[in-house]
Amino acid sequence: MSDAVAIMTSGGDAAGMNPAALCAAQHAERSGIKPYFIYEGLRGLIDGDIHEVTKERTRGLLYTGGTLLRSARSKRFFEEKYRHQAYENLRQRGINKLIVIGGDGSFRALNEFYNDFQVPFAGIPATIDNDIPGTEYCLGVDTCQNIIRTSIDSIRDTAVSFNRAFVIETMGRHCGYLAMTSALTSGAEICLVPEIDYDLDSIAERLRLEIEGGRKNLIAIVAEGVRMGDYLCNWINDSLKMDARLTVLGHIQRGGSPTVYDRMMAFKFAVAAVESLKAGYTNQIMTFKEGQIGMEPIEQVAGKKPVMPDLILDLCRPLAH
Ligand code: F6P
Repeated sequence: MSDAVAIMTSGGDAAGMNPAALCAAQHAERSGIKPYFIYEGLRGLIDGDIHEVTKERTRGLLYTGGTLLRSARSKRFFEEKYRHQAYENLRQRGINKLIVIGGDGSFRALNEFYNDFQVPFAGIPATIDNDIPGTEYCLGVDTCQNIIRTSIDSIRDTAVSFNRAFVIETMGRHCGYLAMTSALTSGAEICLVPEIDYDLDSIAERLRLEIEGGRKNLIAIVAEGVRMGDYLCNWINDSLKMDARLTVLGHIQRGGSPTVYDRMMAFKFAVAAVESLKAGYTNQIMTFKEGQIGMEPIEQVAGKKPVMPDLILDLCRPLAH
């Protein structure tokens, strides 16, 4: 039987998913493996929205943000009968390999599918949250960080003009990576994230001194995971007597054309994923560690906590005190 691979995106969309899907399809084809796209993630896998890759289907994938293969959450996949339906869809088309571009929830779902039907898969980490254990980088993070940087730079302009404080909430679910890297690279005065215990009294002490010394504006970055946006805004008004506004950046952070870095990382992960399937690996997640692309079995990744780099935590601690 000749080999065929189906490529899908799943979970929250992230810039870099499209170039990863494109490169995986091209590299598979060059390797003699027939590529298919699955549309709308697990939903498409169940409902048979699975199509041979054509030139037409790859249009725009290199430079468009989000995922043109679209994404959907599917509770049905956790029912055996729907997983069976999904397997039949693959079997009828002769598809014997899968590549999933997404987060660890999607990887776990495909691992369950592997346990049921032994369809090997390779996972490519993609989420703006950068919270997948085992890899230092997930596709979409660089593009997202640049969107946040541009937004904070704009907000600082108005903060300076109006002698105001701005509290800016970033996404990240339970992870503070986006907030911390954005606070550091934008020169924020406060950063609150789930990974670091904060102390509002010492923040007040530090900033009161700065205000006495002439500070007239400030930027505070809060990760959505600490749920402190509104509270901190009122606190700055009351405790620091500075006019404060809250900006929740929201889904703007998920869009945007992938940066060069995200496109290059997408290519590296995609080639590695195809190569892992060619080499006969069955359920590996592609990783990036200490500058090297590698892979780890899903069992090593699932259920582990993402580890934040010590350097970032150390640099951010003073912004929470
Ligand atoms: O996981 C990506 C992410 O954007 C998180 O940062 C955020 O908490 C969540 O998805 C938002 O989900 P939704 O798009 O379903 O509102």
